[in-house]
Amino acid sequence: MGRFWKQSYWCCVAAGLALLSSLPTKASDHGLALTPPMGWNSWNKFGCNVSEELIEGAADAMVSSGMKEAGYQYVVIDDCWQVSRDGSGNIVADAQRFPSGIKAVADFVHSKGLKFGIYSDAGVKTCAGRPGSSGHEYQDALQYAAWGVDYLKYDWCHTGTANAEWAYTTMRDALSASGRPIVFSLCEWGKAKPWLWATDVGNLWRTTGDISDCWDCQKKDALSFVKIVDLQDGLESYAGPGHWNDPDMLEVGNGGMTITEYRSHFSLWCLLAAPLIAGNDLKNMPAEIKEILTNKEVIAVDQDALGVEGRRVRKDGEAEVWSKQLGDGGRAVILFNRGAADAQISVSWQELGYPAHLNAGVRDLWMRRDLGKFNGRFETKVPSHGVVMIKVMP
Ligand code: GLA
Repeated sequence: MGRFWKQSYWCCVAAGLALLSSLPTKASDHGLALTPPMGWNSWNKFGCNVSEELIEGAADAMVSSGMKEAGYQYVVIDDCWQVSRDGSGNIVADAQRFPSGIKAVADFVHSKGLKFGIYSDAGVKTCAGRPGSSGHEYQDALQYAAWGVDYLKYDWCHTGTANAEWAYTTMRDALSASGRPIVFSLCEWGKAKPWLWATDVGNLWRTTGDISDCWDCQKKDALSFVKIVDLQDGLESYAGPGHWNDPDMLEVGNGGMTITEYRSHFSLWCLLAAPLIAGNDLKNMPAEIKEILTNKEVIAVDQDALGVEGRRVRKDGEAEVWSKQLGDGGRAVILFNRGAADAQISVSWQELGYPAHLNAGVRDLWMRRDLGKFNGRFETKVPSHGVVMIKVMP
């Protein structure tokens, strides 16, 4: 080989290596989900009953209801859109339910200024028995990118003895190789403690099994709202911009809880910096449900750019105090009454990490009213199963 060719050869090798090392491999490198993702997903209300009409209707309703304006962005089809694989192994969508094809649905969602999400599973089958992505990760990721997918929820059914970190990293790399920035949502139910290893793998990871639309139901295998809240305690240090704990999608508006309880559910999700993925029927949403899901001051707590997850600072029997540090030096605080009767609940500034005798402003985020300045502490009556959510500003 002549000197010129030798030099050119090494030049190419060096350029190739530089290119490879500059490709994002971590999920967080895309700059996606710097605040918890907000959107809607078909599963909690509609289960397997998905169709292009449903998804496009949800996208329309997301705009007309004011949800988009409030920050909701991703419209996600959960399980059951897929039926088989063709002779080349390509995933095939249900042609009866999606006669125009998935790309057309994605285009429709994009035309509304929204983003489009889809669902698959790391195993051979999804939880509803549809084809999973095991062995087809790169092929599926390329297909999603070609369709214009912006968000992938990736489940954990039918995975046998697979190692979760390996399986999710494989799909993370496949999504990265597709060249399209895609938010990666791990749905492994917290079994292999993804908070310990998924910071660079996914943008959000489920911390528990599936939520049930009930306050504290005792159904077998059901995780009620309050059970899920308890399971979040202690995980707060693992969340941050680009990588969030996911206590599962919202049940607000699905009929199993009272308005007071749904307000508690939404408030706690916001304090936990949880992804806000609505799961109700957006087309038929009563005003009081819309008011919960679109409360801008409460959503601002969830979306605070500092990206700190809130935590429980006190539990006195049925009375709890939760607090979240905000980027402007304030604290969002929830006084949470799990009891069957109304209760007085207090919080001291010291519990929030402030000096004991600070004179701090308090604003009620649900009443949207400044309550004045308070020295050292704040106390108020909280309804049974309800919250009072305030912002404390030194
Ligand atoms: C699992 C997930 C749910 C939903 C269903 C779909 O149970 O945890 O959120 O995606 O599968 O089959």
